[in-house]
Amino acid sequence: MSLDSHIESVLWTHDQISDRVAQLAAQISTDFDSDSAPPPVVVGVATGAFLFLADLVRKIQLPVSVDFVRVESYGSGTESNGAPVISLNLKLDVKDKHVILVEDIVDTGSTVSCLIPYLESKGASSVSVCTFLDKPSRRKCPDYFVVGYGMDFAELYRNLPYIGVLKPEYYKPLSTTTNRATPFEKNRHSKRESAVLEKFRL
Ligand code: PRP
Ligand code: MN
Ligand code: MG
Repeated sequence: MSLDSHIESVLWTHDQISDRVAQLAAQISTDFDSDSAPPPVVVGVATGAFLFLADLVRKIQLPVSVDFVRVESYGSGTESNGAPVISLNLKLDVKDKHVILVEDIVDTGSTVSCLIPYLESKGASSVSVCTFLDKPSRRKCPDYFVVGYGMDFAELYRNLPYIGVLKPEYYKPLSTTTNRATPFEKNRHSKRESAVLEKFRL
């Protein structure tokens, strides 16, 4: 069975993603072009940002450094309502550097809200957020999932080259006894999928 057969519909094609990445990279190349400032540090938020970061840095026309951080929320219940914890720290010294924080999606904002003060505390001269998808306002979430281009359901589908809606049979619990109920219940109330559609419909 092919990976594509798990997907109900495509929201962002590979070509649309490439076009948007090129626009963002061009903007970064202009905004951070400086003879006096040291090269900016592009910091990806693992794991979801790994593809976006890889595409973005290859289109930025400036010397940049690359590093990664990871944030985990340890919540119980259906939403990750635990306090976010940085579980992978910076390798590079960002003191007096401009930091570009790269995310696949900003949903509730708790991940970037945790990381911005952390990066500032390390002495970054500025912190900018570059996210592929953004959700400016919360809304009720329809009962579907968006996956691909780094974004996962239960750690799968990150390797899709496009962003699509996962077929319900791959995230709905098949019965009350199956262990598929666990990731479904954990993720079904996530707000991030509506954000994708909201953005897509603009
Ligand atoms: C997802 C996504 C963002 C974050 C956005 O990461 O990749 O990092 O959630 O949500 P927020 O704005 O509400 O914090 P997740 O924590 O699922 O980890 P992952 O990147 O490893 O999938
Ligand atoms: Mn993430
Ligand atoms: Mg995830």
